[in-house]
Amino acid sequence: MKRAKITIVGAGNVGATCAHWAVAKELGDIVLVDIPDKEDYTKGKALDLAQCGPVERFDAKITGTSDYAETADSDVVVITAGLPRKPGMSRDDLIDTNVKIVKSVTAQIAKHSPNCILIVVSNPLDAMVYTAWKTSDFPPHRVVGQAGCLDIARYRTFIGMELGVSVEDIDALLMGGHGDDMVPLPRYTSVAGIPVTQLINERRLTEIIERAKMGGGEIVKLMGTSAYYAPAAGTIQMVEAIVRDKKRILPCAAFCDSEYGVGGYFVGVPCVLGTGGVEKIIEVEFDKAERALFDSSVSHVKELCELAQKVLDA
Ligand code: LAC
Repeated sequence: MKRAKITIVGAGNVGATCAHWAVAKELGDIVLVDIPDKEDYTKGKALDLAQCGPVERFDAKITGTSDYAETADSDVVVITAGLPRKPGMSRDDLIDTNVKIVKSVTAQIAKHSPNCILIVVSNPLDAMVYTAWKTSDFPPHRVVGQAGCLDIARYRTFIGMELGVSVEDIDALLMGGHGDDMVPLPRYTSVAGIPVTQLINERRLTEIIERAKMGGGEIVKLMGTSAYYAPAAGTIQMVEAIVRDKKRILPCAAFCDSEYGVGGYFVGVPCVLGTGGVEKIIEVEFDKAERALFDSSVSHVKELCELAQKVLDA
């Protein structure tokens, strides 16, 4: 059987780290693509990573290029291209520049890999998935955004730190947009099957939730640029679910029309991911307070998409 072909657009911190996690899991052959000015750097990254194969024991062809022809017929394409945040910036401040970048790379990808599944990682995430969908004209189940896997990983990490237990035993749900108004759901959070509310008091849990929501900003402040290990790990969790047809239920920015009454936008919801892309969106019940938080996060997503649409129309 032929190996999966995975293209990663953007050889910066997030893109290169995605390539790293992907080959470590032997998910397929990798094409790392960036702009012509960075061609040598991209080739160097690819070669450096390829030379890990004998030590880490993976077989994968890794190509670094600026030529989209080399990405042709990819099964999965991850778009990380775009500016990252600097201290003091919100994800939304990147919209003008990143809509243009994501539009231009998506057009290339759609031309060379018309049947791929597109995973968008660039920020502001929800508006960038929308941009990629509009530009590619792909059916919405083949366009999906990575945010929830990262946000939930942060939330689970902080719960693990608080309780001093394995992060593997923490299960959680987080929904809405990838902004500071994302919605972690304590009612759907458990530790080895035990509701988290029995283990952490409400005041402390609220602090943990706030930290998870601001988790990206905490790292930007510390490092002077955006996080990349966990964003890449979250992305590759999705790639793995798709190329291995695992039918994992992961929180992803998926196209919701009647689902949750969203009306045709990409927002974070639990999805079944397999070779078909977003194979199903799972609808969970909200109480009144959860519904209000979700709705407010979704209105923010809609505002961002309207801004993105203006840039697309200009
Ligand atoms: C973060 C960026 C990648 O949350 O959105 O770290």
